[in-house]
Amino acid sequence: MARTALVTGGSRGIGAAISKALKAEGYNVAATYAGNDEAAAQFTEETGIKTYKWNVGDYEDSKAGIAKVEEELGPVDVVVANAGITRDAPFHKMTPDQWQQVIDTNLTGVFNTVHPVWPGMRERGFGRIIVISSINGQKGQFAQVNYAATKAGDLGIIKSLAQEGAAKGITANAVCPGYIATEMVMAVPEKVRESIISQIPAGRLGEPEEIARCVAFLASDDAQFINGSTISANGGQFFV
Ligand code: CAA
Repeated sequence: MARTALVTGGSRGIGAAISKALKAEGYNVAATYAGNDEAAAQFTEETGIKTYKWNVGDYEDSKAGIAKVEEELGPVDVVVANAGITRDAPFHKMTPDQWQQVIDTNLTGVFNTVHPVWPGMRERGFGRIIVISSINGQKGQFAQVNYAATKAGDLGIIKSLAQEGAAKGITANAVCPGYIATEMVMAVPEKVRESIISQIPAGRLGEPEEIARCVAFLASDDAQFINGSTISANGGQFFV
């Protein structure tokens, strides 16, 4: 029977590429989105992938949404915690609200997405948790104290979950994309973006599909012994 995969923020950007790659691998895919109804409807029309709307920053919302996905598509075997936002500002200008919004979505959102599916994965003896972190969680980034904190936090989450889940057939891994050609990166002022690209040895932004292929591999049976790991996909921009 086909496995079910849940991709948060799965109708746009890197998430959309992941949803499509997993569908191509034969998974039943549920893609969540936060607000853009039009983009989600268009995504479903183009791909046939079902979309579900909820706020990953809200635990009860996430729990109810996941219950609906499981009712319609079956138990969630693969979670891709991808939903993320930026609220960039130099630290001296960063507001408590900018801090909190990013923490709620990017970090608490991972807890809220994984926690409801964890007991079922333990019972069934299989699960895949894949968190989309970032190069900026590994190296920090000017104007991203909030974002970098959440993306570094993701790495703590997967390393801890790996130890708890291993005996139950569950793996937890992270992918750290570098700068990928998505709306999020295109929102960076052009001059800053050009200067960033000049620091990427590959000489270009990455493509969302290059991240999606990492995720599809980590979700597969072949990746069973890879647990608590981080795959960096950044064109050689940063090594850990
Ligand atoms: N390193 C050093 N200095 C920098 C800098 C950098 N990377 N970026 C900006 N600065 C400097 C500017 O030159 C300017 O200096 P001066 O005051 O001497 O002129 C100062 O910092 C910025 O001052 P501003 O008043 O212009 O700052 P602002 O309040 O308008 O904020 C900004 C501008 C938000 C920092 C904007 O430059 C920006 O968005 N930068 C990009 C941040 C970034 O890389 N975000 C990553 C987004 S992509 C992503 O997050 C996906 C992923 O996972 C990789």
